[in-house]
Amino acid sequence: MPNPSPARVHDFTVVSNEPIADGIFKLVVSAPACAAALKPGQFVNIAVPGNAMSLLRVPLSFAAADAQAGTIEIWYAVVGDGTERLSHMAAGDTSTLLGPGGRGWGAPAGCARALLVAGGIGVPPVLCLARELAAAGVAVDVVFGAATAAKLVGEAEARVLGAGEVRVCTDDGTAGHHGFVTDPARELLAANAYDYVATCGPAPMMERVAGLAKEAGVFCEASLERMMSCGFGACNTCNVQTVDGMKGACMCGPVFDASKVVVF
Ligand SMILES: Cc1cc2nc3c(=O)[nH]c(=O)nc-3n(C[C@H](O)[C@H](O)[C@H](O)COP(=O)(O)OP(=O)(O)OC[C@H]3O[C@@H](n4cnc5c(N)ncnc54)[C@H](O)[C@@H]3O)c2cc1C
Ligand code: FES
Repeated sequence: MPNPSPARVHDFTVVSNEPIADGIFKLVVSAPACAAALKPGQFVNIAVPGNAMSLLRVPLSFAAADAQAGTIEIWYAVVGDGTERLSHMAAGDTSTLLGPGGRGWGAPAGCARALLVAGGIGVPPVLCLARELAAAGVAVDVVFGAATAAKLVGEAEARVLGAGEVRVCTDDGTAGHHGFVTDPARELLAANAYDYVATCGPAPMMERVAGLAKEAGVFCEASLERMMSCGFGACNTCNVQTVDGMKGACMCGPVFDASKVVVF
């Protein structure tokens, strides 16, 4: 585990905070020093005002960070009290965030083609990676899924950044392939020679994607979600069982070599 954590507390100001899909918001904050330091796959831990009883920050990945503008773009699903309060923050509101947190994506050196597979609110960190890889000249194919069309995010952004194959799936068939992301992922892995697979989303989905990558002999990373109390290695609430023992997701992850993960 890296020690000490590179995370620092930064003031932020909300630039915008708008719904982009059913129950999903896009938050843009101004926090220049953190925006310049973030690497794809890392996260920030946000203090959301409005509940004096709630001491914990909300850990969130980011979809984009603009070092020149000093902004961080976060896509989040409203699931409970913290994210509900976050959805009420408006342009000009201020608070603090802790970041950059954790270890981000690590595509292998010389990677020429990557397959990125995300489900639900796992899309933002994968989209961020896709943008970085595409800018570095890596051929990128993406598979994004959601429960239903109204909750599907990231397709347009993946097309804009120049992904080759952009496959979308929904559990109920209201957009794209009717079924799970693992179906197109399996097809693409059979049809193309990939150097890297990256995945983020529900744990069973990541486990299956990691299994497909293993069968195809391709290095795979997964961004895992755990409850996080501190976000900087002090509390042990975020443990991930790996073949090398327990590892804290906030410092050794959230991105892990999928072949080492025992429980996704
Ligand atoms: C590294 C990391 C990156 C994340 N990135 C994103 C992101 O980009 N977008 C996004 O929408 N969400 C993301 N999450 C999940 C997000 O942190 C939780 O949805 C959020 O903390 C819920 O807070 P709440 O107060 O609204 O809900 P609560 O009322 O605390 O809980 C509502 C539900 O969410 C679960 N939950 C609460 N906290 C967490 C947590 N830290 N991790 C997992 N489940 C939790 C609870 O078990 C419960 O089922 C990320 C989590 C981690 C650990
Ligand atoms: S969240 Fe406290 S150690 Fe990881």
